[in-house]
Amino acid sequence: MSIMQGPIVTIERFILDQERLFPEATGELSNLLYDFALGAKIVAASIRRAGLVNILGSAGNTNVQGEEQKKLDVFANETLKSVMGHTGRVCVMASEEDEELIPVPPGWPQGKYAVLFDPLDGSSNIDVNAAVGTIFSIYRRTSMEGQGVLTDVLQAGARQVAAGYVMYGSSVMLVYTTGQGVHGFTLDPTIGEFLLSHPNLTIPEVGIYYSVNESNFGRWNKGIQRAVRGLHGDYPERLKGKNSRYIGSLVADFHRNLIAGGIFLYPADTKNRNGKLRLTYEANPMAMIAEQAGGAATDGRRRILDIQPEALHQRTPLVIGSKRDVEFVSQIIAETEADG
Ligand code: AHG
Ligand code: MN
Ligand code: MN
Repeated sequence: MSIMQGPIVTIERFILDQERLFPEATGELSNLLYDFALGAKIVAASIRRAGLVNILGSAGNTNVQGEEQKKLDVFANETLKSVMGHTGRVCVMASEEDEELIPVPPGWPQGKYAVLFDPLDGSSNIDVNAAVGTIFSIYRRTSMEGQGVLTDVLQAGARQVAAGYVMYGSSVMLVYTTGQGVHGFTLDPTIGEFLLSHPNLTIPEVGIYYSVNESNFGRWNKGIQRAVRGLHGDYPERLKGKNSRYIGSLVADFHRNLIAGGIFLYPADTKNRNGKLRLTYEANPMAMIAEQAGGAATDGRRRILDIQPEALHQRTPLVIGSKRDVEFVSQIIAETEADG
């Protein structure tokens, strides 16, 4: 008797099938997601060779082909811009690596989406061969026509039509949502395809991990210090103590907590008065994914997705992950403030 294996679903197939649920869909968003998958494959291929730069030529050096080698974050940024800029699906882009808005040149087709990305998240991890990622966030443009403008990318996160990340770990995964749940795909490098591996991801209501850069402890306010002590297990009647895990790549820390259950925090501190992470490139897309998976994301007080961004590179404190854990942190912060 032969045993039939489960269905093999490529990301292309999955995106197309999801699009069919919406008869009014034009397919542009689907194609844009597919563009990201292509960009991810190009970046992944280059990350796989990152450890060889000393042998094959390092940043600033010229390689055998006489081409200048680029730092990976610059390379990832340029790759994403060139897979998306010319397609007619996008009217404007913004990247953590670019000070200013990235317009689609006049004369090129201007699409209906505005796209933001963190091309290489956790870039300091490259040198030590630890996991890094790419994060993206997609909005429908609010301007009517022509080139996109700043207001197209400065929309509250609740208005995102899609968000996702790619994690370059022991395998490469792409995780995204269009507001219909969260779905994960794993790259099969032998055939160059992302295959559906984690349909309908949900995050446990209470997690087993907490992730925070604890070297900042002395620079946090009292509320955060108490909340983190609570995550250690100092209030056992309210919350069971958790295990600590911290990679220093938001994508990798978030991904672990999404799968296994947990909470990630990057609070404000006396050095980073608004926290360190960026609202538009990091917090918003991760917050949409967290909520779609049944989790939560706040800045300690407010829901991340309700914050109206005022500047492209605006920072925000971030508390994200399993719902009950995020609520616990907000409660402790509120109680500490009320105590004065
Ligand atoms: P990026 O590499 O895009 O600048 O992001 C790094 C971020 C984020 O991925 C991570 O959570 C955080 O910085 C780590 O910061 P600390 O080193 O201060 O813990
Ligand atoms: Mn980042
Ligand atoms: Mn980055």
